[in-house]
Amino acid sequence: MAALSNTLKLDRDELDTYWMPFTANRQFKAAPRLIASAEGMYYTDVDGRRLLDGIAGMWCCNAGHNRKPIVEAIQRQAAVLDFSPPFQVGQPLPFELANRLAGLAPASLNRVFFTNSGSESVDTALKIAIAYQRQRGQGTRTRLIGRERAYHGVGFGGISVGGIGANRRLFGPLLPGIDHLPHTHDLAHNAFSRGQPAWGAHLADDLERLVQLHDASTIAAVIVEPVAGSTGVLVPPKGYLERLREITHKYGIVLIFDEVITAFGRLGGSFAAGVLGVEPDIITTAKGLTSGTVPMGAVLVREEIYDAFMTGPENAIELTHGYTYSAHPLACAAALATLDLYRDEALFERAASLAGYWEDRLHALREARHVADLRNIGLIGAIELQPREGAPGARAFDVFLNCWERGLMIRTTGDVIALSPSLIIERGQIDELFSIVADALASTD
Ligand SMILES: Cc1ncc(COP(=O)(O)O)c(C=O)c1O
Repeated sequence: MAALSNTLKLDRDELDTYWMPFTANRQFKAAPRLIASAEGMYYTDVDGRRLLDGIAGMWCCNAGHNRKPIVEAIQRQAAVLDFSPPFQVGQPLPFELANRLAGLAPASLNRVFFTNSGSESVDTALKIAIAYQRQRGQGTRTRLIGRERAYHGVGFGGISVGGIGANRRLFGPLLPGIDHLPHTHDLAHNAFSRGQPAWGAHLADDLERLVQLHDASTIAAVIVEPVAGSTGVLVPPKGYLERLREITHKYGIVLIFDEVITAFGRLGGSFAAGVLGVEPDIITTAKGLTSGTVPMGAVLVREEIYDAFMTGPENAIELTHGYTYSAHPLACAAALATLDLYRDEALFERAASLAGYWEDRLHALREARHVADLRNIGLIGAIELQPREGAPGARAFDVFLNCWERGLMIRTTGDVIALSPSLIIERGQIDELFSIVADALASTD
């Protein structure tokens, strides 16, 4: 285990001052893992060890780390305009950025609202969906439908529609009027699928059941991740998203795709909606929008949703929602430079062209120790492990520590190892990644 570095001269009491997010604080502070810097595909820890980044930060540094054009754009912007109020006053950058994003999105989603994170994008989308129903005279539609095993961030809206028990149970009754679709993960049918599993489209029909149960007149929106990431990489069965689209259309329900991890090249195109050929009414994004450099999210909505709000007196605020840091100048500058880099280096196309190699290298682990399933889409891969008896998640966490010791950053959720490298990864680095994972699996009990 890495010793407490002398670059962090704090005793245990002082380490406790920082309450770390989604972290086993006591375990971490007994043996901290500290990153000092990053470049391209690699981190360097405080002891000077290099680690290959197998997860693009946390599904966000899609252009790689510390890319010069993005760093310089942020530096330039900080010296020009540090902040200006986003309410009732503007600055040029978000207008330019909104148009750039609309140009990348499915054509009908051409209105953009800025936030600072995925969680804020989700809460924004849920609020817009409910308010839109009211604006179009359907004010009884307030119910939100999420899905089991979904992750939509940590706001009260996001955990309410989210489907991870552990993220919900500490926090009381959550939002009222929520229901959930079943998740699509079933190893009896889908184990070792390459790309979208063949089985499971019918699980979308459960929405018909929820409509019968609650009545369409009470349902505002359905929110799903096109590919669920944080709950262990659940790839949508073939036909599943199409079916959800049909049913939501049929009943006037807003369909939200939470693309916080799938947007910006992860599946080999700008948005999963485009790659998978299903157009929702609202798309939430964050993470890859600035390649993880400055916090920022964006919510893309259909023009008719925006138009439904553009009524009443012209001096009235149409949507009473927004954040002090919506469209922050530094974030806008980072996002514009990031989109330039994605375009100039054709990184989305690069991801698409690497996806086959990635898939083959992942599925070569089929006979590796503990492996219960392998699944993938685009530059996403998951290795599901047989759990240790009575200790769910423990084996995967040990593999994570083992990889850290061997110079590779991975991410685990339960007994699933999730992999999602930056889109600049080279084939040799894909080999390096999977060879470290194979060694780590072999040496973990
Ligand atoms: C699908 C999805 N939605 C929302 C979020 C929350 O994003 P953030 O952590 O930026 O609030 C995440 C984060 O991983 C996510 O994967």
